[in-house]
Amino acid sequence: MKPVYLEDGELKLIDQTKLPTEFIVHSYTDYRKIAKAIVDMIVRGAPAIGVTAGYGVYFGALEYENEPKDVFYDKMKEVCVLLASTRPTAVNLFWAIKRMEDVMVANADKEPVELVAILKNEAQAICAEDIQMCRDMGRHGAELIHQNDTILTHCNAGALATADYGTALGVIRAAHEAGKNISVYADETRPFLQGARLTAYELHADGIPVTLITDNMAGWMMKQGKIDGVIVGADRIASNGDVANKIGTYSVAVLAKAHGIPMYVAAPTSTIDFAMKSGDEIVIEQRDCREISHIGGVQVAPDGVTMENPAFDVTPHQNVTAIITEKGVVYPPYDINIPKLKES
Ligand code: MRU
Repeated sequence: MKPVYLEDGELKLIDQTKLPTEFIVHSYTDYRKIAKAIVDMIVRGAPAIGVTAGYGVYFGALEYENEPKDVFYDKMKEVCVLLASTRPTAVNLFWAIKRMEDVMVANADKEPVELVAILKNEAQAICAEDIQMCRDMGRHGAELIHQNDTILTHCNAGALATADYGTALGVIRAAHEAGKNISVYADETRPFLQGARLTAYELHADGIPVTLITDNMAGWMMKQGKIDGVIVGADRIASNGDVANKIGTYSVAVLAKAHGIPMYVAAPTSTIDFAMKSGDEIVIEQRDCREISHIGGVQVAPDGVTMENPAFDVTPHQNVTAIITEKGVVYPPYDINIPKLKES
């Protein structure tokens, strides 16, 4: 299932705010609307928003391709700034925009029309590489999953959160495809319900046994011995191994440690912020509290009550058993082993 792809000269995005009850694909050519789709979470998930931003830069270039070179470059700055302002936490967004900017710098001698073709290729490459990285992560991560294991996952780190296949769900898919008889508990993931709406949808569609639970049930399932491992995705990993991921991941990690259950994070190296020393520096997106006060448009909290809605939390590296990347599985000490990934 591809949530973001180029077709007939348009960017196609599956509307993830409507799943699982409606399957709608929107078409885009305006980079401003692509930026808004990221803000509105029509497309979401760290790798998927990186891929989308790459295409956003390409569509910006297409819009300004007939401008004089200096105007073109000024406009492209605006395009990149707008796309970078959409969501602050997932580093893949900034990574993809930087990659597009680097291509512009490397081809500064070219005319805008020529550059547009190069930017299109780069956006397509980012998309294709993301799928390959998910496949490679799946291959490495499946080794950590045993026959008959039951895995807990939080949020949606599936095909819908990437260009295809998924990170955490890619590992689960690869283990399933390898013939391991595994099953999954999916946390519903309040308040945006990515687990209930997207993870349960994806796994169910693929015939991978999945049981949906509310977030507050995870500890009790662990206590009863029903969970053998946790696998989640990530939005940004600091070079010491601290992991920002969907709010609630930290609680799951603490519970996993308390029950002696391995806590795995599956993420491509595009999710690693090699320049960031620790998770303390990660900016946590605060979202509209209407996501808490309303469920499916129905008000569930009193008018005027104070609310907070941090969209992500940071799990300290001490709580992470291993990080599964496309280059292999990384174990502690992360401050030594993560920087090595940059060179390999
Ligand atoms: O707010 P979202 O839905 O964009 O958050 C998504 C997550 O937190 C995912 O777990 C993360 O991006 C990894 S996706 C492969």
